[in-house]
This record gives sequence, structure tokens and C-alpha cells, in this order.
Amino acid sequence: MLNLNSRLARVGVSIAKHLCTRDYTYTRGARNYCLKPSFQKNSFTNLYKGAMFGKHNFLSTFSNNTTEGGSEEKETISVTFVDKDGEEKLLQVPIGMSMLEAAHENDIDLEGACEASLACSTCHVIVMDVEYYNKLEDPTDEENDMLDLAFGLTETSRLGCQVIATPELDGVRLAIHAATRNFAVDGYVPKPH
Ligand code: FES
Repeated sequence: MLNLNSRLARVGVSIAKHLCTRDYTYTRGARNYCLKPSFQKNSFTNLYKGAMFGKHNFLSTFSNNTTEGGSEEKETISVTFVDKDGEEKLLQVPIGMSMLEAAHENDIDLEGACEASLACSTCHVIVMDVEYYNKLEDPTDEENDMLDLAFGLTETSRLGCQVIATPELDGVRLAIHAATRNFAVDGYVPKPH
């Protein structure tokens, strides 16, 4: 019986090895690992190459920042602010940061009277290229309400505090209008919701 059990065990191991084909295995230490086919293709390819060419960092490829095409994902994007005098300033803006924050961190003269609480229009920016404008999420009703109060509203106007840096916006150009409407100065009191 013992003999039969050990034979069955050997057959089981051999079936398991067969199911886990060579392309889905790698060795670490004394162990063989089977990678499931659902494993992200790109990471798997790197892992496989790493194992084949003797790289020692193959486990780190699980969490690398590569895209499907194998290129590095960007952590910042290029944004150009054009001020009211036509002067341009090129910034590297971290993904996830709002254009208002980016402007303030780089001493760009863009107001933000309500500190991004959607109660003013002083962070009004004009997206200079409609292609980029179309890549933005649609403005919310609250943003549209505030935009209606902005000086020099255009078809591609947005509130800078609501425009968040995403990889698709790399290269965007934002113009700052010469005038803003500041509630505190103009005496406008926003209606409560
Ligand atoms: Fe007031 Fe953007 S800072 S709405």
C-alpha cells in the first residue's frame, strides 16, 4: 500500500509539472514556482527574461512601472502656463496634482481664493489646445456654475483646481486670464446650496 501511495504521489507530481509548462515556471532557491497564465503578460515576460539571463532582480518585476508597450510610466507630466503677458513657464507636474497646486508651488500667479472648494472662479485657466481639453473629465455642475462667473470665459475654460495631472495631459498648455472675479473684492456672496 505504501508503495502504491508513493507511486500515485509521483504520478501526481508529474501531472502537475506537465500542467505547469516550462514557460510558466521559474526557480528560486531550491523551489520551482508555477506562474499562472493570468499573470500579467508584461511582468511575466520580464520575469522570464530575468531568469533566462541570470538577472537577480526578477522578483522586483512584479511591481515595476512598465506599460503594455514596455515603456516606463511617467510620474510627472509637462505643463506650460502662459501668463497674461504671454510669458510661458514649463513645469513638471506630478501625476495626481491639481493645476492650481502646481501653479502655487511654482510661484505662478494663479489665484485660488476658495482653496479648491468650488466657491470661486479665481483659478480660471484656459486650455489652449482643444485636443487636450477633450481629454479632461467633464466639469461637474458645481464647476460649471463657478465657470459661469469667470471673466473671459471660453469654450475651453476650466477651473485650475479641478484639472488634475494625468498622463494624457502631458504637454498641455494653460493660459491664465488677465482678470479674475474675486468674491471678496467684488462683494459677491455665493448662494448656499
Ligand atoms: Fe476656488 Fe478653484 S480655487 S474654485
